[in-house]
Amino acid sequence: YYTQDEVRELVSYAAVRGIDIVPEFDVPGHSYAETQCYPWLSCNDDGRDPICVGKETSLEFCRNVYKEIFDLFPYEYVEIGGDEVNRSAWKTCPRCQQRIKDLELKDEAELQSWFTCTMEKYFNANGKKLIGWDEILEGGVSKSATINWWRGDHTDVVQRSTNGGNEVILCPTTFCYFDYDQDNNTLKALYTGDIVPTDLTEKQLQLIKGMQGNIWGERIPTEAQMQYMVFPRALALAEKAWTPGNQQQWDDFLPRLLKHVDRLQVIGIAQRPLKE
Ligand code: ACM
Ligand code: ZN
Repeated sequence: YYTQDEVRELVSYAAVRGIDIVPEFDVPGHSYAETQCYPWLSCNDDGRDPICVGKETSLEFCRNVYKEIFDLFPYEYVEIGGDEVNRSAWKTCPRCQQRIKDLELKDEAELQSWFTCTMEKYFNANGKKLIGWDEILEGGVSKSATINWWRGDHTDVVQRSTNGGNEVILCPTTFCYFDYDQDNNTLKALYTGDIVPTDLTEKQLQLIKGMQGNIWGERIPTEAQMQYMVFPRALALAEKAWTPGNQQQWDDFLPRLLKHVDRLQVIGIAQRPLKE
């Protein structure tokens, strides 16, 4: 955990380097840490994930946590998460089912959508904009939410999001998951791959906010191992994100990359050798 003072220190460390931190407090799934500490957050008070969205007390808890987050992180965007929610507990929960009935919702996917939209109103009332993983599209989403495309096999996400007027950040598992294993072809596949889907209109392309590299730390034991997973992949992704497509040439990139490989070595950053 971080104390509030530690968060403030991180935010200012990033700010002087021109970086804004987007915090994520993932709800209603991936919330095992909360439901274990406060079992009343779950449907049967049993401490299991996800959060019960039929209870007013759960919604109040989420608002309270977000309020603390809003006060600590000055950037306008905050991530709600919304990914990989196991909604099966909601199917048999009398409170969740009552909520579905009262709001005349179709199913549990729409219940999650209602929850996300309710939270988004709270975000907006506090001057914040919402980002969520692409599952938040499933039961319908507000136009103002920004979608993180992560499920590489859900190739329709960018079409659907931009057709509906939603902005998208691209981080498909196919290219952008830096915690995934590498082989001798990973870097080239990333550099030469189509992270931006090729079937978008000019108007849809305007809604692409950028690209993102993802790394999840729970199975990465050391900082050096994390650096090894990130570099030099992050350099290839940065060039892809910030260079017009017609100027991206692998043969041109490679010699320039070698200079950065040397620089990383000098400053003591671990990296995967280009061939091993
Ligand atoms: C994710 O990797 N579950 C967003
Ligand atoms: Zn419930």
